[in-house]
Order: sequence, then C-alpha cells, then structure tokens
Amino acid sequence: MLRVEKLAFAHPRQTVPYEFSLLAHAGEVTAVSGASGSGKSTLLDLLAGFLVPISGQIELDHENLVPLPPEQRPLSLLLQSESLFEHLSAASNIALGLPRHTLKAEQRQKIAAALAEVGLDGLGNQQAGTLSGGQKQRVALARTLLRARPVLLLDEPFSALDDETRVVIRELVRTLTVRHRWHTILVSHHANDVETLASRRYVLRDGQLLAI
Ligand SMILES: Nc1ncnc2c1ncn2[C@@H]1O[C@H](COP(=O)(O)OP(=O)(O)OP(=O)(O)O)[C@@H](O)[C@H]1O
Ligand SMILES: [Mg+2]
Repeated sequence: MLRVEKLAFAHPRQTVPYEFSLLAHAGEVTAVSGASGSGKSTLLDLLAGFLVPISGQIELDHENLVPLPPEQRPLSLLLQSESLFEHLSAASNIALGLPRHTLKAEQRQKIAAALAEVGLDGLGNQQAGTLSGGQKQRVALARTLLRARPVLLLDEPFSALDDETRVVIRELVRTLTVRHRWHTILVSHHANDVETLASRRYVLRDGQLLAI
C-alpha cells in the first residue's frame, strides 16, 4: 500500500500550504481529479521527488520514500504526451527501461515480450517519431513495464488521444495495473476515465485531497 500522510508543501508566494493525505492499493487505479490549478501535478511531483515537502510522509509498504532522490524512488511517471526519443526506434526507447548491465540477448527477449504485452508486436524497429499518439503511449507503457516499479503516476495520459484510442489505452492501463500489481495514481479531468478505471477516488480542493 502507498500511504501519503499530511504531506505539506507550498510554492513560492503560496500562503496556505497543501496538505495531502491519500491511500493507494496494489492492483488498483486511484484517481485524483480537481480544477485546473488545484495542485494535481504538484502532488505527483512531490511523490516523484521533484519537489521537497515541508513535512509529512510518503510510505510504500512501510518504507519511507521521502529521503530518496527521484531516480531511486520505486515509481514511473507517464505524462500526457510521452517524451520518447523520436530519432530512436521503439525498441531502443523501451530498452531505456532496462538496467544498464542487461545482456543483449536478455534485452531483446524482454523488449519483445513488452512490445507484445502492449500490443505493438513487430513495431520494434519503427522510429518513435513516426508512431501514432496511441502507439507512443504504448511504447511508454512498455518502457514502464521493464522498469518494473510498483507505483505508476499518470498525469492526464489520455488527453492527446482520440476517443477510440483513449478507450483502448485506458483498458491497457487497467490490465497492466491488475496484472503487475501496480499502485496506479491517475490524474484526470475526465469523468469517464475516472468512472471506468478507478477503484478509489479523490478530489483535490482547497489544498486537500477529499475521498469521494
Ligand atoms: N514552480 C512553481 N512556482 C510557483 N507556483 C507554481 C509552480 N508550479 C505550480 N505552481 C502553481 O501551483 C498551483 C497548482 O499547480 P498544478 O500544476 O499542480 O495544478 P494542476 O491541478 O495540475 O492544474 P492542471 O489541471 O491545469 O494541470 C497553480 O496555481 C500553479 O500556478
Ligand atoms: Mg497538471
């Protein structure tokens, strides 16, 4: 279980600090909604370690994550439009999720398995810049798979996708979350995404997360 307890933070010139408390369980999508500017991305940046809290706790299965720098935190972050290296192939982008010392043969096998799992069989050699929006999100999810981190943070990951693709990628996120026991935290404005995916829901209002 991911447990956030009274995590306090204020941006420069912010008079009343945020105070975030939240629970997210393995194998579940936990949704966070809230008005634009309410602090949703700030919350994810705190979890990812890009921002340093004033006080409070972030624990994964009772391990304190607050002292860990971003690269040592057991999580992956997926944004609206994925930051792939456009000049590299899909497979090379996915390989970035693997530890550096991984042997070539093992790399090939793991990349092929990840491509198959996200429904991109045979597209490994295609240059990332030439993939569709939905295919790029799949590549990003495949990279996340290989990173094998137990927490997945999603910030409006479906916004750039058309309706049909959005439904497919959404289902993929659900399947992967259940299969790999990820604690997935989904930030979304879209009632539909939240309705279909989330086991737990919070709304961010007046600097606090309210369970709804
Ligand atoms: N680096 C910063 N310095 C000062 N203020 C900031 C900084 N980053 C964000 N803010 C402010 O903090 C508030 C919350 O921003 P945040 O990006 O977390 O909102 P959000 O809920 O993700 O909004 P959106 O739905 O539009 O993405 C906003 O008022 C924003 O202007
Ligand atoms: Mg945001």
